[in-house]
Amino acid sequence: MNTDNLQTPYFLIDETKLIENLEKAKLLKELSGAKLVLALKCFSTFGTFETIKPYLDGTTSSGPYEVKLGYEEFGGETHAYSVGYSKADIEAVKGMSDKIIFNSLSQLDTHFDACHPHASLGLRINPERSMAGQDLANPTRPYSRLGVKQDLLDKSVLDKVEGFMFHMNCENKDVDAFIAILEHISTTFSEYLTTLKWLSLGGGIFFTYPDYPIEKLAAALKAFSEKHDIQLYLEPGEAIITRTADLVVSVIDIVENDKKTAIVDSATEAHRLDTLIYDEPASIREASASGKFPYVIGSCSCLAGDQFCETQFEAPLEIGQKLHLMDSAGYTMVKLNWFNGLKMPSIYYQRVSGDIELLNEFAYQDFKATLGKRT
Ligand SMILES: Cc1ncc(COP(=O)(O)O)c(C=O)c1O
Repeated sequence: MNTDNLQTPYFLIDETKLIENLEKAKLLKELSGAKLVLALKCFSTFGTFETIKPYLDGTTSSGPYEVKLGYEEFGGETHAYSVGYSKADIEAVKGMSDKIIFNSLSQLDTHFDACHPHASLGLRINPERSMAGQDLANPTRPYSRLGVKQDLLDKSVLDKVEGFMFHMNCENKDVDAFIAILEHISTTFSEYLTTLKWLSLGGGIFFTYPDYPIEKLAAALKAFSEKHDIQLYLEPGEAIITRTADLVVSVIDIVENDKKTAIVDSATEAHRLDTLIYDEPASIREASASGKFPYVIGSCSCLAGDQFCETQFEAPLEIGQKLHLMDSAGYTMVKLNWFNGLKMPSIYYQRVSGDIELLNEFAYQDFKATLGKRT
């Protein structure tokens, strides 16, 4: 299969780039002794799991279906976390989960008898310190519902849980800032850490970013783990999948209203939602900083402000031309939706050998099935 013949829109995941990230994860594990579980909320495209499995220890989840997916398709350790479990959720996940992490003391109390001793239980703690770029993604923002604050804890919780989970980073590239939070946790929660068996430090540590000092991070994790005699876990999502996939689109039309807009056969609202939610414009491989031909890259949805980015090119764009929206894997394929009944991007996987595998493609029936069924 040759990419020239692929019908847009489609995602193209590059196994070679994925392995580059995974090799860094392997180094981090080896140097630190920490275990790494893939955060399925970020990336769940299970057709790539055969590549990822040898490098990571398992999966972590944010909802019942992710638990099942991790258990069925990835294996290893299956961690279950949810902001809120119903009794039915717990019945569904408890037989598949090695660890079940509760978001609140009331959830822990409600489900303790049903889960114990099927799984090792944990509690999410809000450390009241974070490194998250945007308020929307900051788990320690004022009035946060995510995790238990220290002033609500007492040592009786140790009768019920064997682990704590903290998640307080988002694309944090600053190792010193992370180490400062780690020291805060070490000091503030030391009376718990000596008894606990495991501690998850969540995701959001950008250890695959170019020139990130993995050795320094690993040394800090190892020292923490030895000091408190505890098994550490990290829950990376974005760090594993960053810069491994493009969303490839075609220019469908070019319109002009003071600025030129190239309309492409995709939409942020349907296919790249975080562009819209976090106001983070996409980067386009074909663009050029010195280009003399500026365009808005506009979407095919009905939403007036739905655009991927504004950028410029060395030559005028042409209808039918393909554009590659880079870094379109994390929090992207997991958020696809059928808004406007647009064509859903197919998903391709380019293997190290150069072969291109079709992981999935979608049709009108898939769209219709999300809306109901005739009896
Ligand atoms: C509890 C938890 N763990 C792990 C992650 C994964 O974070 P990232 O993809 O930034 O590594 C998240 C992201 O929101 C999270 O909420």
